Amino acid sequence: MEGRRYLIRGGTPLRGEIEVLGAKNAVLPALACTLLAKGEYCLKNVPKVRDVFCMLRILSHLGGEYQFEGSNLFIDTSSICRVDIPYELASQIRASILFLGSLTTAYGEAVVPLPGGCAIGKRPVNFHEKGLRELSAEITLDHGNLIAKAKKLKGAEIVLDFPSVTATENLMMASSLAEGETIIKNAAREPEVVFLAEMLKAMGADIRGAGEDTIYIRGKKKLKPVKIEIIPDRIEAGTFLILGALFPENEIVIKNFPLEYLETPIKKFIEMGGNIKTLGKGKIKVQRAKRLSPLEINTAPYPGFPTDLQPIFAVLLTQAEGVSVIRENLFENRFLYALELNRLGAKIHIEDRIAIISGPTKLTGSPVKATDLRAGAALLLAGLLAENTTTLYSAELVERGYENLPERINKLGGSIIVEDKSSGYESN
Ligand code: EPU
Repeated sequence: MEGRRYLIRGGTPLRGEIEVLGAKNAVLPALACTLLAKGEYCLKNVPKVRDVFCMLRILSHLGGEYQFEGSNLFIDTSSICRVDIPYELASQIRASILFLGSLTTAYGEAVVPLPGGCAIGKRPVNFHEKGLRELSAEITLDHGNLIAKAKKLKGAEIVLDFPSVTATENLMMASSLAEGETIIKNAAREPEVVFLAEMLKAMGADIRGAGEDTIYIRGKKKLKPVKIEIIPDRIEAGTFLILGALFPENEIVIKNFPLEYLETPIKKFIEMGGNIKTLGKGKIKVQRAKRLSPLEINTAPYPGFPTDLQPIFAVLLTQAEGVSVIRENLFENRFLYALELNRLGAKIHIEDRIAIISGPTKLTGSPVKATDLRAGAALLLAGLLAENTTTLYSAELVERGYENLPERINKLGGSIIVEDKSSGYESN
């Protein structure tokens, strides 16, 4: 993999406006969804992030075409001619599993390598497989490829063992073209699931209950392409909330902030000593008290505290006065960033699925490595907080989910220099 590093000069308060872009985790299922009906789609407000481009490369391989005009993404799926996903692409992105449901239901067959993605835990795909089998697909595993076949999927009652986001999305797409009714129980309730239901409805699907724990889908014979706007990225918004509160002197306004998707993190933010002023039209101003209080955070499926935001909140908790505790309940390997934060001077102790953060600690620059997307974003924020220069290695992982983050933060007065390994940074 090509390597990038960010040189972050920290210690300076930030000031200005930053806008939340479209949600990566809404675009990824939307791209798989474009396989359900041949034709021309327009997705508005699409972030130009690596994971989106990776899914688009898969779509191209299958025979689809795409073009960006600003943040509008035009997709044409009229010439889809394959049902297999190449290993090189599937191994880069876990969301490639989302093609399993749409290819099987629309084309009767799918060959999807077991997916890769961020190294945050085991992340099996058994719920996806089991659900599709319940919809009457025949699924086999051959040399690490999931092979699904079905002449016509048949509606069924599916009970998920855990409200998995992408499994819910896969099964919603698959059952939209199945024969009869499907009921998904213990479904994920994330805003991105609700968004996908809205997209499917606009395509002509019959879906009720998205956003609640039981989703009802009555299969249709045919769906049609759509034009739809992607919802704001709640994880980017949560990242900017913490960015805005890095220093008490910061003066940050966040545009397009989806308050309604962030109730739990905002409650925690306020409990910590953060303050939010709504300015109207989706704008908020973020501030924080000089003294921050420690928190107890338990990650949980929506509407609980998002696992994707725990590394980001951990950065600010290094500045809280006292002991904070984060319990990670979704992924077993999501504290690798803590070891890196400790290199900057944080005091974080990990015990199995619990991180114990003792604060406040002064952070100072050091080389650190991003271990996954959110870990990378957390370390970037920590670098801004730390005095002197922090070098963030494997920084390309940040670009999986945030568009041009260094440039956008530099506009607020930050100092982040992006360097590419291909231009020889190792010899610098
Ligand atoms: N799980 C299984 N079997 C399955 C599927 C999931 O055991 O077949 C388990 C997972 O191992 C995990 C739990 O169920 O313990 C929940 O995982 P989920 O399936 O909900 O996660 P996901 O769908 O793979 C999405 C986001 C992640 C986000 C999680 C949790 C997308 C493309 N990805 O992943 O986003 O962390 O939900 O909210 O929507 C990120 O953006 O950085 C990211 C990792």
